[in-house]
Amino acid sequence: MIYLDHAATAFPKAPGVVEAVARFLDNEAGNPGRGGHRLTVAASRAIEAARTEVAGLLGGDPERTLLGPGATHWLNAVLAGRLRPGDRVVTSALEHNSLMRPLRRLELERGLEIVVVAGSDPDGVPDAEAFRAAVAAAPTSLVAVNHASNVTGAVLPVAEIAAAVAPTPVLVDGAQTAGSLPLDIDRLGVAAFVCSGHKGLLGPPGVGVLLLAEGFHLEPLVLGGTGSRSESEEMPEHLPDRLEAGTPNGPGIAGLGAACRWLADRDVSAVAAHERRLIGRLADGLAGIAGVSLHGWRDGASRVGVLSFTVAGSDLGELAARLDRGHGICLRAGLHCAPAAHRRIGTFPGGTLRAGVGPFNTEADIDALFAAVRRIVDER
Ligand SMILES: Cc1ncc(COP(=O)(O)O)c(C=O)c1O
Repeated sequence: MIYLDHAATAFPKAPGVVEAVARFLDNEAGNPGRGGHRLTVAASRAIEAARTEVAGLLGGDPERTLLGPGATHWLNAVLAGRLRPGDRVVTSALEHNSLMRPLRRLELERGLEIVVVAGSDPDGVPDAEAFRAAVAAAPTSLVAVNHASNVTGAVLPVAEIAAAVAPTPVLVDGAQTAGSLPLDIDRLGVAAFVCSGHKGLLGPPGVGVLLLAEGFHLEPLVLGGTGSRSESEEMPEHLPDRLEAGTPNGPGIAGLGAACRWLADRDVSAVAAHERRLIGRLADGLAGIAGVSLHGWRDGASRVGVLSFTVAGSDLGELAARLDRGHGICLRAGLHCAPAAHRRIGTFPGGTLRAGVGPFNTEADIDALFAAVRRIVDER
């Protein structure tokens, strides 16, 4: 099997993840922070060690590094926990539905004003000036923006955007960049950074991360037991407990900690360079096949290892199935949960075939994909 669907989820996971998950379940599976017996203490230790690994890799403060079920959960939590009736929010035309759907729901429920900024380049990336102008037009409560498009791989200049719109807080959806680009969240100057644990961070599914800047307060989306301040029926004030109600996914978190340790040892900039090289090779190879079009691709632009393409006259779902069945190549066809991005790059409603590379892919994997596409095109 040649797995080229890392933008959906990483496979395989980082070395050490399976062992960390099993170790937690075998030896550490108490309920962390609930009681004082040895298994509870072991669970708390494993989770706090993982939190420290995640914070260390991403450049956050462990106390403000929140662990929960996924990027989707944390995007919902920041939007619902921060936005008030009538607030104005500026976002981009390249967002995933995990940001747009909660935003549209809040538009209905809280009367938000949502302003969508679209760039004029083929990849649809708006520059920092476009955000500055949008925010300057009226008082704005939040800028919510993708760090890299899961459809095109284009990277948005989030540090420049944060500087341009300051002091308006910026929420970044880093689902496609964490683990795939070297990051130092404190230096990005953003208020909140959200990412998945199961994509570029190479951890198990069912875990995601929210990093908060100091002083950026949220009302909790989910309320419940924390094992702390149990005498009160109000959520505790202190982080991480305020935003982490309920029994956490200990095995997933332990696995994520091991994955972040592996990435830190290996160096994320080496991973980023490897993925960029592979996706560049793929773009060059596909561009030479008659009938293949690349979408949202701009030479020299900052990007992660994601590439969207179509093949003229082909049903993309059928093509993906043929690549899987006939060539053992796994990639995804469709809208990739980001209809706005497809509207922006002109591939709505048909969508694209999307290849997403990871640290374990090789040049041979890439060559196999364009050889397979060429063969399918030639056979028509
Ligand atoms: C850009 C982007 N944001 C958010 C998400 C949601 O992430 P999760 O699966 O961790 O909820 C995804 C996943 O596909 C994504 O690509």
